[in-house]
Formats: sequence, C-alpha cells, structure tokens
Amino acid sequence: MKTIAITGVLGYSGRYVAAEAARRGWRVVGLTDSAGHLPNPEGYELRPMPWSTEEDVLAGVDVLMNTYWVRFSYKGAGHAPFSHVMAVANTKKLLAAARQSGVSRVVHTSITQPDAASELAYFRGKAELEADLQGSGLPHSILRPAILFGDSADESILLNNMAWSLRHLPAVATFGLGNYCLQPIHVQDFAELAMDEAESEAPHRIINAVGAETYSFRDMWKQLARAMGIWRPVLPVPAELGYQTARLLGRLVGDVMLTREEIVGLSQNRLAVPGPTVGTRRLSDWMQQHAAELGRRYASELARRR
Ligand SMILES: NC(=O)c1ccc[n+]([C@@H]2O[C@H](COP(=O)([O-])OP(=O)(O)OC[C@H]3O[C@@H](n4cnc5c(N)ncnc54)[C@H](OP(=O)(O)O)[C@@H]3O)[C@@H](O)[C@H]2O)c1
Repeated sequence: MKTIAITGVLGYSGRYVAAEAARRGWRVVGLTDSAGHLPNPEGYELRPMPWSTEEDVLAGVDVLMNTYWVRFSYKGAGHAPFSHVMAVANTKKLLAAARQSGVSRVVHTSITQPDAASELAYFRGKAELEADLQGSGLPHSILRPAILFGDSADESILLNNMAWSLRHLPAVATFGLGNYCLQPIHVQDFAELAMDEAESEAPHRIINAVGAETYSFRDMWKQLARAMGIWRPVLPVPAELGYQTARLLGRLVGDVMLTREEIVGLSQNRLAVPGPTVGTRRLSDWMQQHAAELGRRYASELARRR
C-alpha cells in the first residue's frame, strides 16, 4: 500500500483529496498544525508541518500532496499573524523536506496565471513556489485552480458570501464593469484530478484545474440570484468603492470579506485561462442544488482559522 502525505487534510480541498486517496486504497498521512483544533473524523494519522518540528515528517511517504497556503496576509487580534511571505518560506521548507526524505512525487496546488512579475503577492508567491519545485528535480504535477466550490455552501466561501450579500443587501456590485471571468471547479473534480496526478508517472506536468463553465463576475451574480429566486440590481462601481464596502461589511461580520489584492487579481482576469477544462461537475447545477442553503449564514475565513 502506498502512502500519501496531504497538507490541509483537515481543511477544504485537502480533505476531499484525502477521501479520494483512501477510496483508491492509499494510506493517508495528514500534515497539519491544526491537530486538536479542527475535527479529524476519519482518524487520519496526523504529523506536524516540517517547520514546526525537527522530526522527519515525510518518513515512509511516497507522494506529497500540497494544498498549504494562506488566502491573504493578516495581523490582528485573536490570530497568529500569517502572510504570503511566510507561506512561501514555509512551502520551500516543505519541498526541501520532500527532497531530503526521498518522496517520489509531489502534487502541488498553485493558482491560474501565477506571475513572478506581478504586484500581487499571491500570484508572485505562487510563481516563486512553482519555480522552486521545478528546480528541485522532484517529479511533480502542478495544479492551477481558479476557484473551488462544493459540497456544502459553508465551505464554498466566495460563492456562499456572494449569496449572503444577495440575501442581506438591497443591491450588489461589480468592481468596474464586471466582465472579467472565473472558471470554478468542483472540489471533488479537483480531488480526482489530484489523485490521478499522484498516480501519474509523467516527470512533470502543469494543469489548469479549471471547471467546465466560465462566468463573468457580472453573470455569476445574476445566475446565483436567479438560482436563489432573488432579484437585486448589480451595480458597476469603482473598484476602490467596492473594496471599501466589502471592508466595512467584513468588519461588521468580524472577517476579511475580500482583499484589495483579490479584487485586482479578479479584475486582471487572472481567474480564467484559455484551453482545455478539467471538471465535469457544473456550477450551474450546483447553484440550483444548493440555492436554499446558500448565504443563510456568513462563512468566515478568520473563524475557520481560530
Ligand atoms: N479555495 C479556493 O477557492 C482556491 C482557489 C484557487 C486556488 N486555491 C489553492 O488551493 C489550495 C488549497 O486551498 P483550500 O481553500 O483548500 O485551502 P485551506 O483548506 O483553506 O488551507 C489549506 C491548508 O493551509 C493552511 N492554512 C490555510 N490558511 C492558513 C492560515 N491563515 N494560517 C496558517 N495556515 C493556514 C492550513 O493548514 P493546517 O492544517 O495547519 O491548518 C490548511 O489546512 C491553496 O494552495 C490555494 O492557493 C484555492
């Protein structure tokens, strides 16, 4: 039986990858600093992240599946600070540990359109890590999702909170005209792809892990509202005004709802790519299936990290 070590095994995509790995007969080891804080209903063997221990956390591991990353940089009360700079440095330690332990393959999660020259720390950091992995000599697959959704409304933070806004606000907005696009992939499609790549023997591959449907941001508001049976005006507003509104709403719910960087990345059309798609599960179907539960509760990124 082969062993796969999965970062984020108690988180979002990592949990789905772990379930898919177990279904395919793999032994799953979770790498996490959240043991004891997040539930581990499957009872996976958990080991600390390599930057939190001196022990060889990848001993006996065949494949490393990495989902570790932070969505934004944050320094505030009630949370240990986290940042893209820290996430880049930590991920490099993880990849170095994989080299030292003799892991035979790495499946690494990146983002659509990583860019070493970007002013956005997210896309720049992801490009730096792809280059680090490519230079490591380790056989690898790099998966580049744009945005994940499914199974429950709560875990699909962006879509759920768009739905929450539709339920609670008299109008919603696009940053500028809203004609930039997104290609959401269902997290189970992502997990199946990740495990196909874990089982692949190709020396190195880069895959845009994007779903079957492409939405403009404006159309995403409209389709979501239609699925929920709600009508709201979708107003094009200057990006900065949209950001300040999201910031205020975030404060009211005790979260970071959306960052300025996320708005810029979206407006730069970084969450859509030309070429083949991977997912078969359609967001339009998912919106219909989850319309009744979407947006009933605000899904907080910061609360997930407490
Ligand atoms: N979710 C999306 O829509 C989306 C879109 C595009 C790309 N991606 C990429 O897909 C990968 C997985 O995303 P995900 O949403 O599934 O991630 P996630 O479960 O929220 O996070 C993965 C793991 O990263 C660590 N982590 C996350 N936030 C952290 C923080 N603030 N401080 C310290 N550790 C933190 C956690 O490790 P512990 O186990 O130690 O807690 C967590 O389990 C990431 O590389 C992300 O860039 C995701």
